[in-house]
Amino acid sequence: MYIGLDLGTSSLKAVLMNDDQQIVAEHVVSLSVARPHDGWSEQDPQSWGVATDEAMRALGKSHDLSGVTGIGLSGHMHGATLIGADDAVLRPCMLWNDTRSAVQAAAMDADPQFRATSGNIVFPGFTAPKVDWVRANEPEVFDKIAKVLLPKDYLRLCLTGEHVSEMSDAAGTSWLDTGARDWSDDLLAACHLDRSHMPRLVEGSQVSGALRADLAAVWGIRSAVVAGGGGDNAAAAIGAGVVQDGTAFLSLGTSGVLFAANVGYRPDPATAVHTFCHAAPDTWHQMGVILAATDALNWLSGITGQSAAELTADLGDLRAPSKTLFLPYLGGERTPHNDAAIRGQFLHLDHSSDTAAMTRAVLEGVAYAFADCRDALAATGTTLTRALAIGGGAKSDQWLRILASTLNIPLDVPKDGDFGAALGAARLGMMAATGAGAEIATQPPLSHEVAPDTTLTDAFREAHQNYKAAYAAIKALK
Ligand code: XUL
Repeated sequence: MYIGLDLGTSSLKAVLMNDDQQIVAEHVVSLSVARPHDGWSEQDPQSWGVATDEAMRALGKSHDLSGVTGIGLSGHMHGATLIGADDAVLRPCMLWNDTRSAVQAAAMDADPQFRATSGNIVFPGFTAPKVDWVRANEPEVFDKIAKVLLPKDYLRLCLTGEHVSEMSDAAGTSWLDTGARDWSDDLLAACHLDRSHMPRLVEGSQVSGALRADLAAVWGIRSAVVAGGGGDNAAAAIGAGVVQDGTAFLSLGTSGVLFAANVGYRPDPATAVHTFCHAAPDTWHQMGVILAATDALNWLSGITGQSAAELTADLGDLRAPSKTLFLPYLGGERTPHNDAAIRGQFLHLDHSSDTAAMTRAVLEGVAYAFADCRDALAATGTTLTRALAIGGGAKSDQWLRILASTLNIPLDVPKDGDFGAALGAARLGMMAATGAGAEIATQPPLSHEVAPDTTLTDAFREAHQNYKAAYAAIKALK
């Protein structure tokens, strides 16, 4: 038996997987995000251990965990968890969608060695500029830093006592030589850090340490290894069987991700496509990332007082795109704009614009943002022919129909819910415990395909052009 722990932005999910890779139990614990200022997004690292303990105890109540031999970790990427010499947390973790370090990111990005070595733009949400923000604004904290850990790697420290990261998450720090799969001494030195501040690196499917005996005893586990695991997107790809060159997924989570697996390392930073190591050895991946996917719908939900499910329940059949346009840049955007300052917009509201019209515009706006990612991937030479649809938002066929018609590719909907990253983490736990390879990461059985509506694809293409024009116009206003 294996455990997958997925530390998400809004919840921690623990799944129990049997030797046939069937999920036999899951437990979810909510987590909160603090936004003390515009552009800031923080989480208390202590809450991750508390949530894990609650989830593990809940799984242990309903199932015998004594046969668990491998645990895999997945987590939201890019967070800066700063710890001191005694492993104490020095300040709240600055999350992936925290854009306060735009100035530091721009300065680093202007230094050509960052793009050349890391293979990526230095985005404000990445780890390195956030630590540089701390150096500039909280020097007393910076001076105490003994290690910089990614969120799931801090959870690993709590579980094993080891400072370890793995390639897929490390690639999102701006400190990794992504082609060589090793920390870059030069990039670290440019940030007044060195290797001693970094955790040891393993591959996602390798053993990173053993579960602490005291925790094992409390949770009813005899002994288990903890795998390297993966950043949430790489882990989701392991869960969705997206490892072979040319396979892809579209994830509708808090953020939106269009993810393509690559056998080789194919960086193209100018496109704002992210190029990271995969969680399986000797493989890489590319992805377009938008900062608000279900987050945009949740925002509308907060304003209207209706849940996302209520908002999307009664939108009727797919029809031509609305006149109303929504730009989902609530906290800036990564692909393709690398623009931390841009903010969301509704355009073309009229007297008849009601909640349903605004909901439809939000779903369409997110689809156009995905179309921007598709175009950015195409500019790197990666053309998608179809993609698996995963994440909480993929439960809405209506949204998938809009997406399929906008992207003009079929979307495959897996049979079983949305535990992509948690399943991927459990699979990595299985690989570490048994020595199995990435071939165990098969594609899930499909429930159905959502095909583009060819009578509407031209209209959605035109609406995407309008959306791009709206971005350019708003950009000019700033
Ligand atoms: C990827 C990214 C997000 C987070 C949160 O670069 O920032 O997908 O991992 O899910």
